Amino acid sequence: MFLTRSMIAWSLCCGIFLCGFPSWLCAQDQATDKPAEKKEADKPAAGKPEYEIRQDHDPNGIGKFYMGREIAYVMGIQGAIWLERPEREAEEAPSKLVKSLKLKPGQVIADIGAGSGMLSIKMAKDVGPMGKVIAVDVQQEMLDLLEKKLKRLKVKNVEGLLGTEKSPGLEPESVDLAIMVDVYHEFAFPYEMMVEISKSIKPGGRVVFVEYRKEDPEVPIKLVHKMTEAQVKKEIDQPEFHLKWKETIGTLPRQHVIIFEKQAAEEKKK
Ligand SMILES: C[S@@+](CC[C@H](N)C(=O)[O-])C[C@H]1O[C@@H](n2cnc3c(N)ncnc32)[C@H](O)[C@@H]1O
Repeated sequence: MFLTRSMIAWSLCCGIFLCGFPSWLCAQDQATDKPAEKKEADKPAAGKPEYEIRQDHDPNGIGKFYMGREIAYVMGIQGAIWLERPEREAEEAPSKLVKSLKLKPGQVIADIGAGSGMLSIKMAKDVGPMGKVIAVDVQQEMLDLLEKKLKRLKVKNVEGLLGTEKSPGLEPESVDLAIMVDVYHEFAFPYEMMVEISKSIKPGGRVVFVEYRKEDPEVPIKLVHKMTEAQVKKEIDQPEFHLKWKETIGTLPRQHVIIFEKQAAEEKKK
């Protein structure tokens, strides 16, 4: 099998060198989290979907399940080299992804789980100096990497924001579009995150999930790091999120782009 330099580097940094297709190409599990059973009681608010801890689970997941799906380990700082790999453009077409969002100058974008900010910097060009990208992450190390890159590239309209496992810490109705690229499946508290994310979106604004297609066995990523479109729609179909599915873009090589729209106040009453 042909190996590029960055694939080897990534495999080494994951400690899973050449364990074979498809697992060695994945966003491997650099846990920033404690094992699931040692965490605080993992329950969303009463009446909401519950989290379930199972002993029998995928070794790449944290053993915590939400609506039938196992949550993946968070990618650690070691994964930044993989996020920044030069082959990413050919493999995943992130430029095409950003173009498909049809961002407008002046818009405020929240790149939630921004990592080292590869996507944030691309989106910053489209929103121009009157707009901005808020790059949210739970790992300060990722935000530090981003900060260095912003200085080096003289990018002024991206700002880092340290979030928590339960909230990105965004202001209410302040964001035109929130995007999660290869992130949502890592949320330790997806329900709580989505309550907060939906609050931060302006009426008519969009929430975009970019996830590796689980429907496609050819996509070379570990199973817990993939999601089906049906699972994303199931998890987002909760009245308190006020999010309505708008479209799914299926033109990227490995990921689907699943877009929801925040309903305006009158629509919510219906
Ligand atoms: C696989 S990386 C993707 C990074 C980036 N979106 C990209 O595609 O280049 C996932 C990122 O999500 C972050 N993350 C996980 N849970 C998060 C949460 N609850 N809030 C914000 N960021 C989170 C991780 O720290 C990690 O940097």
